[in-house]
Amino acid sequence: MTYLPGSALDDGPLGRLLMAARQLSHEPPLLRRGGQVTEISPAACRVRGLSRFAALGDCVEIGEGTTRHLAQVVHVGARGILVKPFEAEPDIRLGQQAWHQGAFRLHPDEAWKGRIVNALGEPADGAGPLPPGLVALPVDRPPPRALRRQPITQPMRTGVRAVDIFTPICAGQRMGIFAGSGVGKSTFLAMLTRAADFDTVIFALIGERGREVREFVEETLDEKQRRNAIGVVATGDESPMMRRLALKTAITIAEYFRDRGENVLLVADSITRYAHACRDILLAAGEAPVARGYPPGIFAELPRLLERAGPGEVGGGSITGFFSVLVDGDDHNDPVADSIRGILDGHIVLDREIAEQGRYPAMNVLASVSRLARRAWTPEQEKLVLMLRALIARFEDTRDLRLLGGYRPGTDEELDRAVQWVPSIYEVLRQTPDETEHRNAFETLSETLKALAAEREDGTTTHTPQPPQRAPMSR
Ligand SMILES: Nc1ncnc2c1ncn2[C@@H]1O[C@H](COP(=O)(O)OP(=O)(O)O)[C@@H](O)[C@H]1O
Ligand SMILES: [Mg+2]
Repeated sequence: MTYLPGSALDDGPLGRLLMAARQLSHEPPLLRRGGQVTEISPAACRVRGLSRFAALGDCVEIGEGTTRHLAQVVHVGARGILVKPFEAEPDIRLGQQAWHQGAFRLHPDEAWKGRIVNALGEPADGAGPLPPGLVALPVDRPPPRALRRQPITQPMRTGVRAVDIFTPICAGQRMGIFAGSGVGKSTFLAMLTRAADFDTVIFALIGERGREVREFVEETLDEKQRRNAIGVVATGDESPMMRRLALKTAITIAEYFRDRGENVLLVADSITRYAHACRDILLAAGEAPVARGYPPGIFAELPRLLERAGPGEVGGGSITGFFSVLVDGDDHNDPVADSIRGILDGHIVLDREIAEQGRYPAMNVLASVSRLARRAWTPEQEKLVLMLRALIARFEDTRDLRLLGGYRPGTDEELDRAVQWVPSIYEVLRQTPDETEHRNAFETLSETLKALAAEREDGTTTHTPQPPQRAPMSR
């Protein structure tokens, strides 16, 4: 029997009805259609007898009893279907029975909060069984209808000062984090999961090392947050099928909570590893690699999937998404990075050079854009940020000149101000992973700017004030 959550309702008639409904929605169907495994290769297995019933993306179960393996249809042909098992090394034999199961469905529930699941929605945290919810949601679903979606208007604070000042976001916005390896993407996303403005946080860790997953869960999420967060994890040693499914599972769970009217934060690390998994699967299904080894199917799948994040239909909640993108060898024109940049509502670029200076988060504020920032800023904030960007641009442009001793104070007023202000602005943006900003980031910024302005009036330009001490974060 399936595990059922203990609740006050369990003993009453309503509880028994609920129990029966849950039971029914998880019973296997009475009629099963079967086929036979006729070919096995490392890439996929061929099954004969299901070609007329199975659709792309449907699941089949291979084998009986204790040695059952779940697999998904990746190609349908007249000579049979190709299925790819979710397990990395399944023990499948020629002639075994394969049973058609239809689309893969999840049964998310409120009680999943605080838990970590694998791509199939099974518990992955060793904390006991997961109560299945009442509704069965297929993981492949179309996005909400464009014209029925709510407009994006509600500003959200993330608690990361660099984001809240330079690329502020609204509920339902989708952002990409672009950086090379080791520049701080995972840490940046972990900081974002603390954003207090959201009802539920769903984080998908795709293709990460097992150690990183542990660190992410144990070190980044505090007790309170863990109760509102659900993790979906597919580590690098799992099959590409699991890694691809993990992102879909995370989005499906996010949709479940969005449809309950919640503002959901979805954080996915990384889309690149998801794309790699798609590539492996599509190549196994016979698609040709066209764009630097990527089959064209990926460029159709990515927008379809990312479009599912965003504002819900009128009356529902929203899914705000942050997706990390690995730019190989810091090459920002990688086809996956390029395609994702076009789909999202903004991008944050983390720079290796900034990280090497020890300035974390290593966000390049000049290269980062939030397309909805104007809806999140007040007019005064917008004016201030534009002014600061100009100063930072001036500061960075003249870095070499100043290093070579070509800068003399007093000859260029704007440059003087850039030299005086920018280091302090950078100090405001500096933030360690365990420091949570509880205030509005603009308050911290304006205190620093006031101190700078006062100093300017005094005429003392040699000393750079430190930003005001912030309250230590409570964990
Ligand atoms: N906000 C930060 N404060 C201090 N150090 C950081 C910060 N962000 C990243 N780092 C440093 O950068 C290293 C790599 O970060 P990580 O998030 O694992 O990068 P990526 O996911 O891009 O490979 C971390 O181990 C840490 O030392
Ligand atoms: Mg990482």
